[in-house]
Amino acid sequence: MTTAHPLGIDVGGSGIKGAPVDLDAGAFAQKRLRIDTPETSTPEAVCDVIAQVVDHFDEVRGSSPIGVTIPGVVQHGVVKTAANIDKSWVGCHIEDLLEQRLQHDVVVVNDADAAGVGELHYGAAKGHEGLVVLTTLGTGIGTAIFNEGVLVPNSELGHIQIDGKDAEPSTASSAKTREGLSYPEWAERLQKYYRALEDLLWPDLFVVGGGVSKDSDEFLPLLDIRTPIVPATLKNKAGIIGAAVLATRTQDARGQHTQD
Ligand code: BGC
Repeated sequence: MTTAHPLGIDVGGSGIKGAPVDLDAGAFAQKRLRIDTPETSTPEAVCDVIAQVVDHFDEVRGSSPIGVTIPGVVQHGVVKTAANIDKSWVGCHIEDLLEQRLQHDVVVVNDADAAGVGELHYGAAKGHEGLVVLTTLGTGIGTAIFNEGVLVPNSELGHIQIDGKDAEPSTASSAKTREGLSYPEWAERLQKYYRALEDLLWPDLFVVGGGVSKDSDEFLPLLDIRTPIVPATLKNKAGIIGAAVLATRTQDARGQHTQD
């Protein structure tokens, strides 16, 4: 069986999840597959799991694009940072590694960028003009910036300095869990963070993703900031869907070049 559906694969700290994506509907075309992230999550070990996910959706081995997300900066197929993943990722040409392994074109992008693209096309940021900033609150803080629908990749605003320190370790939702903070206690930190972001960027909209966004009623109303702030709507599907969109876009652009 052949299908035109691109495959999106989201590499997270606890699970590696993939599904073929119906780009017209902005939804999974088949049930998602999730496999635990290997305990020692080196590039090679993660590539093994990605290969299992691709094998599971064997029909994509035709010419359908494959998009993969990584929780770090990815520039031209090379991983540049590893705040919350094994340090051996830094400098790894993950696109080459995966392409050799899978014998298939692969596009690798930052996880928050992919989630942002998902929300922009099909979710909370759909139809929003101007400057939109998506933040994902999880183990780390991921960010994606869009100006008039155009992604500025690898923005890494989770690591801005607040009170002279990297914001992420004290502001991510993992800090709330680790320190046993109540929502109002955590919201005080979020307030500082989103104020700092809006003073730097003057966005038209913040979208808040990550697992904790399902409880957004508990903390978003506590924030006193001037920028409208809304929860993401695609939940944990955003990364997979966005990766599939970005892979399709890149494959189309590469095809265009070949024809030129
Ligand atoms: C990384 C980002 C990533 C975010 C969410 C941060 O620690 O630096 O690249 O998007 O975590 O996973």
